[in-house]
Amino acid sequence: MRLFLAPMEGVVDHHFRSIYSAIGGIDICVSEFLRVNDRPISTKTLLRDCPELRGLREAPNDRSATPTGTPVRVQLLGSNPQSLAASACNAATLGAAAIDLNFGCPARTVNNSQGGAILLKNTRLISDIVGAVRRAVPVKVPVTAKIRLGFEDRSCYMDNAVAIAEAGASELVVHARSRADGYRPPAYWSCIAEIVAALDIPVVANGEIWNLEDWRRCKSESNCEDFMLGRGLVACPDLALQIKAEVSGLAIVPFTWDRVVELLFGFYQATKGAYPKRFLGNRVKQWLFYLQMCYPEAQVFFQEVKRYRYPEQFAQAFSAQGVSLRC
Ligand SMILES: Cc1cc2nc3c(=O)[nH]c(=O)nc-3n(C[C@H](O)[C@H](O)[C@H](O)COP(=O)(O)O)c2cc1C
Repeated sequence: MRLFLAPMEGVVDHHFRSIYSAIGGIDICVSEFLRVNDRPISTKTLLRDCPELRGLREAPNDRSATPTGTPVRVQLLGSNPQSLAASACNAATLGAAAIDLNFGCPARTVNNSQGGAILLKNTRLISDIVGAVRRAVPVKVPVTAKIRLGFEDRSCYMDNAVAIAEAGASELVVHARSRADGYRPPAYWSCIAEIVAALDIPVVANGEIWNLEDWRRCKSESNCEDFMLGRGLVACPDLALQIKAEVSGLAIVPFTWDRVVELLFGFYQATKGAYPKRFLGNRVKQWLFYLQMCYPEAQVFFQEVKRYRYPEQFAQAFSAQGVSLRC
């Protein structure tokens, strides 16, 4: 069984992937989507948005991975088969562990420019894109795809899934909701089971796995062996470890709030120089927003820091949480 850390634009950046990969339990990461228009995406942009690609220069045989070695797939989003193929080729040359194609983004701006979930209405174009990308990158670099169940409704997933497999994708992630379903529960895991039965390639189940019990139900309803965890893993940093422990029959001690604060502090340190000063701590606040779902202490901490903007304020707040400071 493999567990994937879901791509989450604006949330799961390379700092986040690095922290989660170090926590453990995750087998594969996927970059946030990189938008491809009519021109191929440049090396500069690829390296900026997926810095894990840089590893190639140091170790030419390695593929993109986090510092602790979890492979990182490069996700592309667009509708032009030629420029997507050329972009995929650039990413493969830079060492992409795999190329993932996004057919699920629900954002109106993205859909209005013919990217993401809107393509679910055009199976032919999806097939052209997957085929063009598959032909463009070396055989050793897997081409994978991520879909929702449909755009307005959940009626076209089988056509799209079959087209993606026939066009040469080696794996398919299914977020078990339509674009119209947004992010509202439930996720329709039983639809994934139909896809699993029809395809010869691995299918990865995604959507609404917040805890061990959700994972058990998703496994039984989807018939999948592999799972992608998004918001649930952001809210509960040891969820992947809990699942892996259950599979191997081991017991783990759930992360305490003190452990989570250490992770938060590491994230604060890693991200504080990456944004303009006026955004200081925003990434920490964003993570705390999710952590509140699992840790009542996160709610209190979030209320305390939500208006903080200066390093001294954060230093004091972390110090009060018992973190020894070097900032
Ligand atoms: C803030 C946010 C950003 C996302 N960005 C991406 C993205 O860049 N690419 C993608 O394929 N899916 C993206 N997704 C969808 C997630 O990967 C995942 O499919 C979805 O959240 C359902 O899984 P979950 O219920 O475990 O969160 C995003 C979701 C959220 C909430």
